[in-house]
Amino acid sequence: MFPRTRMRRNRRTEGLRRLAEETALTPADFILPLLVLPGKRRREAVSAMPGVERISTDLLVRRAEAIRSPAVMVFGVPDAGDKDERASSAIREDSLVPGAVRALKRKRPELIVITDICLCGYTSHGHCGILAAASGEVDNDATLEVLSGMAKAHAAAGADMVAPSAMADGQVRAIRDALDEGGFHHTAIMSYAAKFASSFYGPFREAAHSAPAFGDRRSYQLPPANRREAIRDALMDEAEGADWLMVKPAMPYLDVLAELRTATRRPVAAYQVSGEYAMLKFAGAASALDEKAAALEAALCIRRAGADAIITYSAEELIQWITG
Ligand code: PBG
Repeated sequence: MFPRTRMRRNRRTEGLRRLAEETALTPADFILPLLVLPGKRRREAVSAMPGVERISTDLLVRRAEAIRSPAVMVFGVPDAGDKDERASSAIREDSLVPGAVRALKRKRPELIVITDICLCGYTSHGHCGILAAASGEVDNDATLEVLSGMAKAHAAAGADMVAPSAMADGQVRAIRDALDEGGFHHTAIMSYAAKFASSFYGPFREAAHSAPAFGDRRSYQLPPANRREAIRDALMDEAEGADWLMVKPAMPYLDVLAELRTATRRPVAAYQVSGEYAMLKFAGAASALDEKAAALEAALCIRRAGADAIITYSAEELIQWITG
């Protein structure tokens, strides 16, 4: 008790503070999302996400040399003409993402390439799965087959990990089975295990042209109010064979992240999503806060809550800031 105990003793100098530091950021912690366009020499800014752009594979490969993040997460952004009711283009081995994965791996074999496995960017209606003809609802079991085909196409192209984000029940098991049957025993699965129905995805839906044409995603993504349900859902993915579990979004869900960290022995990732990025960028641009300090603090706090890795659009800047 005070006055014998004084908390300030360990905080007095920079050296003493550093010595007692429980959490630190290192460049090895970050995964950079990439939005890939079809065609050549295409580059489009995303207005809701300053500093983020969609680019075609040829330009991406040119940029690849300079990427300092150890890992990237690839999202395909097909043109409207390449979307249909059944997300047919998602499972083709010669399509957008497999092409980008091959090109990245050719240029940078050691770069860890993770691919997003979801149908919302590939369906004409923008939902994360195939719709049942009778009800118009997302048909969970019919969706599994397409997600598995997509995962196999990405694995065949050389992806190190596939990251199912459709929140379909049984998706991890279906994808693991399909990968093993296809001989892709080494392709890991990073499951978007606790993915909430969040308004913080708003800017991404502009970036990836993946907003649902009608309705919302609340019938398959987690309710923001429910932590126990999130842990239960994540542990199901663990039981189905996920190699990594992810919590998404990050900052508004740190309690879920912290609880999942103690509930599983698998590595856990957190996705600092588009809305979190946009808040930091726009507040920084308006001088409402110091963007660099706030972004570093946010990442540090996500690590402190339990994330082994952070998926963030700021990955390259954060690495720059950490390494000075
Ligand atoms: C695909 C997917 C989404 C995000 C990642 N994968 C969008 C969504 O579920 O609506 C969001 C990423 C972000 O907001 O940064 N389902």
